[in-house]
Amino acid sequence: MSDPVDATTTPAWARLTELRASYEPDLRGAFAADPERATRFARTAADLYVDLSKNLVDDEILAALVDLAEQTGVPQRRDAMFAGEKINVTENRSVLHVALRMPRDEHLEVDGKDVVADVHAVLDKVYAFADKVRSGAWVGVTGKRIETIVNIGIGGSDLGPVMVYEALKPYVQAGLTCRFVSNIDPTDVAENTADLDPETTLFIVASKTFTTLETLTNARLARTWLLDGLRASGAVGEGDEAARGAVAKHFVAVSTALDKVEAFGIDPENAFGFWDWVGGRYSVDSAIGTSVCVAIGPENFAAFLEGFHAVDVHFRDTPAAQNVPMLMGLLNVWYDGFFDAASHVVLPYAQYLHRFAAYLQQLTMESNGKSVRWDGSPVTTDTGEVFWGEPGTNGQHAFYQLIHQGTRVIPADFITVATPAHPLKDGETDVQELYLANFFAQTAALAFGKTADEVRAEGTAEEIVPARVFSGNRPTNSIMAPALTPSVVGQLIALYEHITFTQGVVWGIDSFDQWGVELGKQLAQQVTPAVGGDEAALAEQDGSTQALIRYYREHRA
Ligand code: F6P
Repeated sequence: MSDPVDATTTPAWARLTELRASYEPDLRGAFAADPERATRFARTAADLYVDLSKNLVDDEILAALVDLAEQTGVPQRRDAMFAGEKINVTENRSVLHVALRMPRDEHLEVDGKDVVADVHAVLDKVYAFADKVRSGAWVGVTGKRIETIVNIGIGGSDLGPVMVYEALKPYVQAGLTCRFVSNIDPTDVAENTADLDPETTLFIVASKTFTTLETLTNARLARTWLLDGLRASGAVGEGDEAARGAVAKHFVAVSTALDKVEAFGIDPENAFGFWDWVGGRYSVDSAIGTSVCVAIGPENFAAFLEGFHAVDVHFRDTPAAQNVPMLMGLLNVWYDGFFDAASHVVLPYAQYLHRFAAYLQQLTMESNGKSVRWDGSPVTTDTGEVFWGEPGTNGQHAFYQLIHQGTRVIPADFITVATPAHPLKDGETDVQELYLANFFAQTAALAFGKTADEVRAEGTAEEIVPARVFSGNRPTNSIMAPALTPSVVGQLIALYEHITFTQGVVWGIDSFDQWGVELGKQLAQQVTPAVGGDEAALAEQDGSTQALIRYYREHRA
C-alpha cells in the first residue's frame, strides 16, 4: 500500500492557500456576475440533482480542489478499494461494501474467491427468510404469524437499519412493525418489549463480531423475556428443549462470527453471514439490513441496493470535476482546512429521514475522526468535522440562528424530494410546497443574507440594525431527488460513504478502522467489578472514578 501523500505539501494545497488569501466570499456578486452559475455548478449522480453553486468557491478554487484529489491519490485509492485491495491497513482488510450491491452477474475476486457470488448467496437466504415472515409461512412457536421484528444491535448494526426503516416507512408491509433495541440502558429493552406479545415477536440479533457487550446483554434479556412470557401463558413448557424450540422460532442472527451465534444458542440455519471486509458502519446493505428487508420486502430491498450501486458506478467512473461525492468531499476539506469549519450540518427536508444525521454521525466521525494517517504518522491538518442535524423546519425553529448569524462557518447540506409520501393539502395549499418554499428560502438566505441597508429600508430602528443583518456567504449544498424511494435512499447513503472516503484519502486517514472506541470498552470491563462492590477493584481506580462509583453505591435504590 502506498504511503499517504501529505496534502499540505502538494502544489494544489499551495495554490488553494494562495487562492484563499485573496478570496473574499461574495455569493451575491458571483451570481450577479455569472447568470450561468447555478447551472455550471450543478451536477447529477443517478437520481440525485446536486446544486453546488452556493458554495464559497469559484472556478479556480474548484479546479485546485480537483487537482488536490489527483495529487493526493484519491482516484487511485478509490480504484484500489473497488479492486479489493487491503486499504484498511491497520486491520489488514479489504474494504468492499461496494461489492454488497454489485449485480449478480458481476465478479470480483478477493483472495481467490468471487465475493459477488457469496454476497448473492446470502442475499438469497435473507430474501427467502423475508418472504417467509411476510407471507406468514414463518410462525412463532405457538403457530401465530410474526407481527413485530425487534432488531438488537448497536452502532452500525443499529443506526443503518433504523434509519432506513424510518426512511422507507411507506414501503413497510401492513401488519409488520420493526423496533430497534441498542442501548445497554435496561430501559431500552424494557420499553421496547413492554407491550409486545412474545408469541408474535421475532428478534434479530445483529452483530458483526457477536462479542459486543450491549448487544449480547440485550439479546440475553430478550431471550429471558421471551421464555418468561411464553412459559407464563403456558405456551411452552419448562426445560432446555422447550427453550431451544422457542428460541429457534423467535431468534435469528446476523454476524460474521457464525460459531459465536451457535454458542449463543441460535441455530446457524437461522443465521445470515457477512464478511470482515464490510465495516460495521458500511453494513446496512449486507444481511445487517435483514430487519429492513423483512419490512419492505426483497423487491424493494433489491431496488435499495441498486440505488447504492448506481452511485458507486458514478463515483468509480466519473471524472473528478463531475464526480459528486468527490467534489462534496473536497468541498468539506476546503471548509475544514481553509475556513476552520469544525462541524457540518445535514438538514433533510423529508421527515422520513429524521434519523439520517444520527446515521451519518457514525459513518463520518467513526471513519474520519483520527489523528494519525494510515502509515502511523500524524495528520497534517484538522480532520473529522462534527456531523449533526435535524429534519426540516424543526431545525429552523431551534438552531438555524447559529448557522445564519453565528461566528463560525457551518457548511450545510439541504436534502429533499419533489414528491412527498403524503400529498396533503391545507385548504387549497399543497403542504409540500410550503415545506419546499422553506428549503429554497433557507439556502437563499444563507447564501445572500441581508445587508444593513436592506434592514434599514424596512424601517428598522438604527440601534437594532446590526442584530438584524445577515452576512450571507454561508455555504450550502442542495440535494434533490424525485421521491424518497428505496433506490434514492440507497443513493443518498452511497453518496455520503464516498464523500467520507474522499476526505479520508486527502487527509491520509484509514477511514475503515475504529480503534478510538476500544479504550473505553476495555476500561468498562475493568471498572465493572468496582461498580458491583469489589473494594480492591475500586481502590485501583482514579480518585474521580472512585468518588463517582461511591456516589452510585450510596444512592442506588
Ligand atoms: O464500538 C464500535 C463498533 O465496533 C462499531 O464500529 C460497530 O458498528 C459497533 O461497534 C457494533 O459492532 P458489532 O456489529 O460487532 O456488534
